Amino acid sequence: MAFPQRFMDELLSRNDIVDVISSYVHLKKRGRDYFGVCPFHNEKTGSFCVTPGKQLYHCFGCKHGGGTINFIMEIENLSYVDAVRFLAKRVNMEVPEDSSSHEESRQRQRILALNRDAARWFYQNLSRPEGAAAAEYLVKRRIQRKTAMNFGLGAAPNSWNSLMDAMTEKGYSKAELLAAGLIVKNDKGRFYDKFRGRLIFPVIDVRGDIVAFGGRVLDQSEPKYMNTTETIVYSKRRNLYGINLAKKTKRPNFILCEGNIDVITLHQAGFNNAVASMGTALTVEQTRILSRYTKELVLCYDNDAAGQMATQKNIDLLKDSEFTVRVLQLPRRLVNGEYVKQDVDDYIKFQGPAAFEAMLSGSENQLDYRMEAVAAKYNLTSADDRIAYAAEAGQLIASLQNAVEREVYAGRAAEKAGISKEAMMLDVERYRKRKKGQERQAMRKEAMNVRALHQPKERSIRYTDEPSAVAEEGVVQLLLTDSALAACCDGLRAEEFSAPWLGRIYQTLRDACREGRSMNLTLLAESCSPEEISHLAAVMQRPVALTRSEQALKDYIRVIQRAAEKRRGGEAADLLRAAADRAKEKKGYGGKRND
Ligand code: UTP
Ligand code: MN
Repeated sequence: MAFPQRFMDELLSRNDIVDVISSYVHLKKRGRDYFGVCPFHNEKTGSFCVTPGKQLYHCFGCKHGGGTINFIMEIENLSYVDAVRFLAKRVNMEVPEDSSSHEESRQRQRILALNRDAARWFYQNLSRPEGAAAAEYLVKRRIQRKTAMNFGLGAAPNSWNSLMDAMTEKGYSKAELLAAGLIVKNDKGRFYDKFRGRLIFPVIDVRGDIVAFGGRVLDQSEPKYMNTTETIVYSKRRNLYGINLAKKTKRPNFILCEGNIDVITLHQAGFNNAVASMGTALTVEQTRILSRYTKELVLCYDNDAAGQMATQKNIDLLKDSEFTVRVLQLPRRLVNGEYVKQDVDDYIKFQGPAAFEAMLSGSENQLDYRMEAVAAKYNLTSADDRIAYAAEAGQLIASLQNAVEREVYAGRAAEKAGISKEAMMLDVERYRKRKKGQERQAMRKEAMNVRALHQPKERSIRYTDEPSAVAEEGVVQLLLTDSALAACCDGLRAEEFSAPWLGRIYQTLRDACREGRSMNLTLLAESCSPEEISHLAAVMQRPVALTRSEQALKDYIRVIQRAAEKRRGGEAADLLRAAADRAKEKKGYGGKRND
């Protein structure tokens, strides 16, 4: 562990979870727990629960959870080490200096400083002969100098080592340049600049740190873009291009587009709420960042097949979130009698910002589409049809979260159906009540449903052998509750776990025990993914019978080992069967050849 145990113990005892979370979430006490509106997904119900007794939080809605350190990591978007520093500062504690955590933090700071210096150097090149081609390219793409400065755009000269030389001169080592992803090493062990002859886009995070770079070619060559791959300061899944500027927007929504240039063109045209997922479909981590700044997303991807596919993927991802999602479908453009694809950048260039603004304010939301689809099903001149239409439209409107929106749509639907708006609203409210009742029932059902309760929400850590995994969770829960129980685990090996990540945690807990270190969920945050911690926090919420815990542990171990045996048996049987098949095949061929 990076920080000394004594320091961590004191840090956590002085940062009570209820205190810490209270500065972000308005909490109300209910029984032994505190409840509030979840800061990690948009909701109105208050499914976010903090349990001081266990020093844990858990959201019954989005299934987010963990200890104090996780909470800070998530909400402040910090690494484990920086979250620890953050909490130490909060209670005026000195952070022990000579630890590896300090080293990691120092390295991060070094890379960020290097990125800053590199970005400044790239930017300065735009006014030098080496950057003339990139500067010309900016003109061609109609990106003004002021915009380029806002985004910190720059030029990578067409050279193998000019960045490397400039940064080495500033005192950075090759190792640091390599760690930042700014240089690469070839087969012969020679280093060279990663970005050459490209227009450079620094990727800046919500805190204003330059975490990565993208580089676009200035002609038709391939690959069109090169990006920094993962480094200790950058994870592609957790960043959005333009977020540093968009987070300050006064507009009511965020525009999500595909490309860097789209974002820049939009900002230049006054749409300072644009961000890009940089060529990939949106990730859960990105939606969490967005949810801090907006409740409404306008998807504005290219109108080609790839763009449509990404839009669909994003709609699927956002379906269960509380974001209001709208799709802004750009029209194709008629060129020489042929309709061609266009992206936002083209649209702004050819139709102008006003046309885009009109599309944005009137952009069809998913409900508009569906309302029209409903209306189209009925013959609104027939009285019977009008009644049926009012019923179906009413149900659709009832699904809207926003009361004003419900009124607006109810008014429109009432007019179409030829009834009073009041009557329509009465219907809508009736449907809402019914729907709420159904939702409550569904939630209760889900709580009863053991499968749904035990499977982690995050796909990548889903269980393949569920009965075993439930027992594995039980073991981890018991060890986290009472580390003395580790003494009863001698017969159980981590390899016998069906869920590798639970096995890994089990190993960590046992190692900690052997070395006499205490362990809890909060400290596990260092070596676990947020998804794993969230799921463990949910596990820790389950009741545990400490009076008969030894027996429970033995039962769990038996279940796990039987399941492991069964799996091994299955593998062995498969191998035997395959061997037998091969033997048969050989015989068959042999017979034929002998004929
Ligand atoms: P596009 O090809 O739509 O690029 O890719 P663009 O931003 O509209 O660029 P222009 O208008 O041709 O200059 C969308 C995004 O996908 C990522 C980049 O972030 C790009 O902005 N991308 C694209 C890559 O990472 N690599 C590639 O080879 C291409
Ligand atoms: Mn483009």
